[in-house]
Amino acid sequence: MAIPCPGTAGIDVIRAIQRWAERHTAERRYSPVGQIFHWTMAALVMFQFGWAWHMQRVDVGAEKLAGYQVHAEVGLLILLLAIGRLLWRLIIPAPLNDADDLGWQTKAARFTHYLFYLCFFGLPLSGWAMWSALGGGEPLRVAGIIPWPNMPFHAVPVSIQWFVLTWAESIHVALIILLIILIPLHVGAALKHHFWSRHDVLRGMLPELPEDAALEVPRKSLQERESQDRKDGG
Ligand code: HEM
Ligand code: HEM
Repeated sequence: MAIPCPGTAGIDVIRAIQRWAERHTAERRYSPVGQIFHWTMAALVMFQFGWAWHMQRVDVGAEKLAGYQVHAEVGLLILLLAIGRLLWRLIIPAPLNDADDLGWQTKAARFTHYLFYLCFFGLPLSGWAMWSALGGGEPLRVAGIIPWPNMPFHAVPVSIQWFVLTWAESIHVALIILLIILIPLHVGAALKHHFWSRHDVLRGMLPELPEDAALEVPRKSLQERESQDRKDGG
């Protein structure tokens, strides 16, 4: 009797998912799963900035600590979503779009996406290290629901705890600065492609609605677009 191979079953599931996503990527759109990852994580990252700003203004005490706990637990949710998103992205390629062949602009956009992924992992990991080095920290739950352990820094000498705290804080702040630079560039580029160059890039990250045609910006002729792209440096 043939023994079922779990590896083959896994590959079949991946192939089925790829076939499902192909319908969307063939239409030059991210799949609904890719879009949900994008907009959920974008909203959570923006929430983290707003919340961090708020918690810095709360007086030292129980309320401030609770504020940091919310920040940490939302951050851990971002970490889990980043793992899911990376796995998804590895099996489902990004769709082709009008901005795929614009030389330095395409390279810059891809590099920006890599840096975003670096932040999605680096911020929660450095935050988690900071939290764990802060005298053990309160127990955390992902999104306030799933229990999450602290890193075992309570068992190491205080000098090492300080070392971890200082490094983790520097990394956290450096990645925050990186995000503050990247987000406006990324959003600006998305809006420029959509409204100025009339490319289909933003459309690919928006859900497919019945009245989708209303969202379509009249497309420029191929000739017009090529000369525009040459002017843009692509
Ligand atoms: C993508 C996820 C995250 C983002 C965007 C983010 C963003 C921020 C921002 C904007 C600040 C304020 C900057 C400052 O105080 O210097 C901050 C501070 C902090 N974050 Fe995060 N964070 C994230 C994840 C986490 C996680 C998962 C934890 C803990 C488990 C955490 C722990 C902290 C702590 C302890 C501080 C205070 C640092 C200090 O006062 O020096 N963060 N974070
Ligand atoms: C905190 C905010 C945001 C973050 C962290 C972020 C992050 C990302 C990442 C990592 C990708 C690559 C997709 C992937 O391969 O997984 C991406 C793609 C994209 N994002 Fe964002 N995004 C943010 C906000 C926005 C906003 C506000 C817009 C629109 C105005 C936007 C428009 C797009 C578009 C159109 C793409 C597709 C680019 C392409 O395939 O060439 N993003 N974003």
